[in-house]
Amino acid sequence: MRYLRAALGDRLTSEELGLLPAGFDRVGDIVSVSLPPELMHRAPEVAQALLELKDVRTVALREGGIAGRLRRPRIRVIAGGPSTETTHREGGCLFKLDVARVMFSPGNLYERARLPKLVGPGEVIVDLFAGVGQFSIPIARHARPSRVCAIELNPVAYGYLRENIRLNRVGHIVRPLLGDCSTVAPRGVADRVVLGILHVTHRYLPLALEVLKPSGGVIHYHESVPSGLRFERPVKRILQAAAGREVEIVGKRVVKRYAPGVDHVVVDARIGSSTG
Ligand SMILES: C[S@@+](CC[C@H](N)C(=O)[O-])C[C@H]1O[C@@H](n2cnc3c(N)ncnc32)[C@H](O)[C@@H]1O
Repeated sequence: MRYLRAALGDRLTSEELGLLPAGFDRVGDIVSVSLPPELMHRAPEVAQALLELKDVRTVALREGGIAGRLRRPRIRVIAGGPSTETTHREGGCLFKLDVARVMFSPGNLYERARLPKLVGPGEVIVDLFAGVGQFSIPIARHARPSRVCAIELNPVAYGYLRENIRLNRVGHIVRPLLGDCSTVAPRGVADRVVLGILHVTHRYLPLALEVLKPSGGVIHYHESVPSGLRFERPVKRILQAAAGREVEIVGKRVVKRYAPGVDHVVVDARIGSSTG
């Protein structure tokens, strides 16, 4: 990475410079970075260099992926202030969250900006995996839905979701619901359903179809998929779940590279009426 290489050029050996990570994440005033084991002894220098970036208060080390059903990150503060709570400003929205307790992916930035542009006036949206409001808040701020139902299972994320609804003054549009979407999602109401989760998304396709109005609507289906199967597998899964209902694929894009050889993709599918 150019910044770290330049900042540490006179302190690290050329071998160590070659091990520097390709990037770092920034959420609010917190920067998080992963280091390979061979560079861990240089964590203090890397942290100090990142702390010198403009408006950075805290530097944290990412130690492995995001854990479990509640998507809890594994991170540890290595420099700066100890608090991992921050407020991230993006596209005219505020997202308050604790980066050590809930997930917020800087790599989904374009998707958070794209989705509101697809929402028509008066639509009812159901966001099955709302997190801290990553999709629900921009939709409520930048589109003109009549209602957004934002469902979240993790009580910590749900607390921030409620706070973000308040901070962004969208309480008249976004209705937060705490619980498992399989149980608490309203059925037969939505023009558009957002399935913003990875790994298990296909299991929730039958639910998403139930949540749509009987006349049909659009689903935004996210999946982590081997690059070779990039759109083939998600489209196949949608067609399977639709079981004979009309399906039109109206959009597909790679959101980000998830891991080596694995992409995070989103497929937008218009599902026809359930009554044929
Ligand atoms: C990976 S985060 C994504 C948040 C947001 N949709 C995004 O894409 O940025 C997934 C969220 O879904 C929540 N979640 C997982 N299973 C759930 C379920 N069955 N019902 C409701 N929320 C769930 C997790 O707690 C987590 O906050």
